[in-house]
Amino acid sequence: MTRELSLGVAGLSKVYRNFLRKETEALRDIDIEVPRGEFVSIIGPSGCGKSTLLRLISGLERPTSGEVRFGPGYGRGDIGFVFQSAVLLPWKTVFENIAFPLKIKKIPLEENREHLDALIELVGLSDFRNALPHELSGGMKQRVSIARALSCSPPLLLMDEPFGALDAITRDTMNMELLRIWSDTQKTVLFVTHGIDEAVFLSDRVLVLSPRPGTVRKVLTVDLPRPRTQEMRLLPIFNEYCRALREVIG
Ligand SMILES: Nc1ncnc2c1ncn2[C@@H]1O[C@H](COP(=O)(O)OP(=O)(O)OP(=O)(O)O)[C@@H](O)[C@H]1O
Ligand SMILES: [Mg+2]
Repeated sequence: MTRELSLGVAGLSKVYRNFLRKETEALRDIDIEVPRGEFVSIIGPSGCGKSTLLRLISGLERPTSGEVRFGPGYGRGDIGFVFQSAVLLPWKTVFENIAFPLKIKKIPLEENREHLDALIELVGLSDFRNALPHELSGGMKQRVSIARALSCSPPLLLMDEPFGALDAITRDTMNMELLRIWSDTQKTVLFVTHGIDEAVFLSDRVLVLSPRPGTVRKVLTVDLPRPRTQEMRLLPIFNEYCRALREVIG
């Protein structure tokens, strides 16, 4: 059975040019096809173009060559983006920041109050719903931006090291919650991480990029049953996957 495509990237390359015309080749000839509902992690050394890839897919950046295609029901307007460092509106409260995408899309807040409250609860910020960003820690800001990315219930989530700033326990909890949301709402997720274990635990496939300019070095299919449980981390096969990834990353 071939599943319907959510997103495809073909021959995607990006060369940045600064004002002195100095060129930085960030990505070279990337091909990926992501079926609807798949969870894909992207892993690779710092500076290899992972954030660039997400920005090209979202349309925040234009490719030098190649293209990004979306399947039916997917489009640039339907993407939730968690940026590598949280970008919040400093004069708006936690609640207002999370609700902001709804406001932009002119979706009435009243009808979504329960959903928004559930999101604030999910990221553990119920006591801070009226706080301003400068009153929050780095990890808390990141959690606001995760809730914000989910507020419009987008079918496609692009997440750039979303849990990097969190402590190990909160991170494990967020991993489980993310998997729950993903399977409940059948989202497609592209998830950038430096965590090899995290990538194996979460993903259907892990894409390993080479050092800059990023090319696809390997695509590892993780054939562990769903739903994933913490006990699976102890299975020999889990460690085999981690070892295989570590070998390619080098
Ligand atoms: N706006 C920009 N202008 C010029 N060069 C850029 C720009 N953004 C990124 N780059 C360069 O492109 C390359 C890839 O950057 P990118 O941020 O995509 O890497 P990354 O894989 O996300 O790294 P990290 O793991 O550290 O977040 C780097 O060499 C970086 O210097
Ligand atoms: Mg990055």
